Formats: sequence, C-alpha cells, structure tokens
Amino acid sequence: MLTEKDKRWIEATAEKINCKMAWVSEKSKEKIPYTTVNGTYDSYDSSDKSYRISEGLNWWTNGFWGGMMWLMYHETKDEKYADIARFNEEKLDQCIEDYYGLHHDVGFMWLLTAVANYRITGNKESKKRGLHVANLLAGRFNPVGKYIRAWNEWGSDNNKGWAIIDCMMNIPLLHWASEETGDPRFRHIAVMHANTAMENFIRPDGSSEHIVEFDAEAGGKLDTHGGQGYEKGSSWTRGQSWALYGFILSYMHTKNPAYLDTAKRVAHYFIANIPESGLIPIDFRQPKDDIWEDSCAAAIAACGLIEISKAVGEHEKNLYLGAALKMLKALEAKRCNWTEDSDGIVENCSEAYHTNKHMNIIYADYYFMEAIFKLKGEDIFLW
Ligand code: GLY
Repeated sequence: MLTEKDKRWIEATAEKINCKMAWVSEKSKEKIPYTTVNGTYDSYDSSDKSYRISEGLNWWTNGFWGGMMWLMYHETKDEKYADIARFNEEKLDQCIEDYYGLHHDVGFMWLLTAVANYRITGNKESKKRGLHVANLLAGRFNPVGKYIRAWNEWGSDNNKGWAIIDCMMNIPLLHWASEETGDPRFRHIAVMHANTAMENFIRPDGSSEHIVEFDAEAGGKLDTHGGQGYEKGSSWTRGQSWALYGFILSYMHTKNPAYLDTAKRVAHYFIANIPESGLIPIDFRQPKDDIWEDSCAAAIAACGLIEISKAVGEHEKNLYLGAALKMLKALEAKRCNWTEDSDGIVENCSEAYHTNKHMNIIYADYYFMEAIFKLKGEDIFLW
C-alpha cells in the first residue's frame, strides 16, 4: 500500500519529469538519443558515428526515446510529444529496409515506437511495422533448441547457439502480434522461448545467467557466459532485472502461474541483494569494495516489482512495492539530475562491468519514468 507520503513523493517526482521533459524534448526533437556528451544528448542515427564506431540507426536502444515521448504524450496529451515519437518511428524504417544489422532487440525498438503508436492512435502504418518486425523476431527462433537466437555473428565468433536473458523483454512483441492477428504462431514461439529461459537461465538461488550457449544443430545447453557481468557464474544486475520484468510480462500475457513464480523467485533473489543505500551495483557478485553501479538495473527492476505487486495477494504486495520504492527513492534523491546542466535524468548507468560505466543511458530515464507513472496509476501499458 502506498502511504500518503509516498503519494506526495510520486506526484512531486512526476512533476519534475514533466518539467525536465518539456525542454529536453524540444532541444532533442530531431535526435534519437542514447547517452549524453558533456551534458548534451548524442544521436544514434546513422549520420553520427563519431562517438561509437559500430552502431548506428539499428542500435538496440533506439526505441526508448520514442517510448519516452509516448509516455509523456499519455501523461500530458501534448501533441508535440506524439510528433517527436513519430519522427523516431519513421526514422527506424531505414533499419527494416536495410535488414542487415537487425537483431533480436526488435521488440525494444518497435514495441515502444510503432506498436505504441498503433495502441494509442490506431495508426495502420504503425501496425504494419509492428507485424513486420514480429515476423523478423519469429524468424530468429531455433526450433531444435527452442530459443530465439541473440545477436548476429561478430568477428570469428560462432554465436549461433547463444540466447540471452534480455530477450524476455522482446517476446511481448510476439504476444502482441498473436493478439492482433489471431494467429497463435507468434505466441507459441514466445512461450517456447520463455520456457527454455525458465529452465536454462534461472539458477536454483533465483539468480539468472546472462548468456546461455545451446547446440544450434542438436539443441541442448552447452555452456554459460558471464556476458556483461563481472565473470562467468556472476550475477549481472541488469540481467536479473530483465529476467524479473520479463517473466512477469510473460505472466501478464499468458496467465501461466509458472512465469509468476519465476518472476517472484528472481525478485526474491534481487530484493535480498539490494544494498542498504538502495543503489544497485553492476553485478551482485562484483568485488565487495567496487563502487560501480548500474542505475538502469534499479529502474527496470522497479517496473517489474510494481507489476508483481499487482499480480499477488494483499499480504504479499508490500514486499515488492516496498523494494521498488526503495530503489526509486534512492535514484531520485541521489542519481537524478533535474537541472538544465544535462539532458539526461538518471546518472551512474553502466553498459557492462568491463566497458563504459557511470554515464547517462536513455533507457534508465525511460524505465524511471515508466515506474513513476505506474505508481501514479494512470500509466499506459506498452509491453
Ligand atoms: N540488452 C542489452 C543490455 O541490457 O545492455
């Protein structure tokens, strides 16, 4: 149960988001931001590759800005937000046209842009985009191993058998496609992938692997990899968040209680590891004295915990809601920048334990906003 004090904090935080987004959206309306450079949003369209060499328009995060704009449109009914979201959506058409370079993260990219647009406005072109990329995602399914293959080849790596826990967040696109078309094929793939993830990624203690390697020809689990976490066998916190939120989303789409149980098991592991500060490390098993945090993990997990709290009985709700509030309040008090010094809001986001750390990353802002609007109780469901 939210207290009166919690409700006042939620209202005040939503107001801070409104104030910040009013000017950031105006300043960035022709960008698709990923991070900030000296406080100003960069843009991950193909014209600007100066900051990173390998990613352009098909960078997996390129739907979050559009998603933020749809959240703001829903919150304010200000058409300017819808226009910016449409700009993001239309820019991504080039990725569909190019095809090469597309990957398993089409759910992140198009659920928050085209599918959001279709859900909110009924736009037929947007529906077509959503169905098109749902077919691309379904085409990545390996029917022998029953998993959606992650990424594409890079260098000489043979990663044909790799699946990652993050992909639990892409499969809602398949549920949407089945709901829209009445054709259960997409849902069957989503369910088979989720079942494979439940059996092969979630460890007995409720933590999750990041990468599981399957035999791409014969099926069967071959190995696990530490991926973006500290090391093999460690516990990359964003991966825990993808599992937590991903399984409760699968439950919401299917009502299969096994997914709710799995989301709760991951949540219990996560909650047991939240530090006193409420700030989340990059990996729950990184060396004890490390200062490295990942605010994205906190914001994503908060969204999942709020959804779990809605799915469980009265006596359980507070466990999940309380943990979500603890992390969100810690982020708001210590890691949110509400000034005009930076276009980004949430700070101390980290790409991976061994790469870029303590920066702005667009989806921390997206999930922080989503969590606050969920708590306000007037949110729009985009997954
Ligand atoms: N899905 C990739 C990441 O979380 O960094």
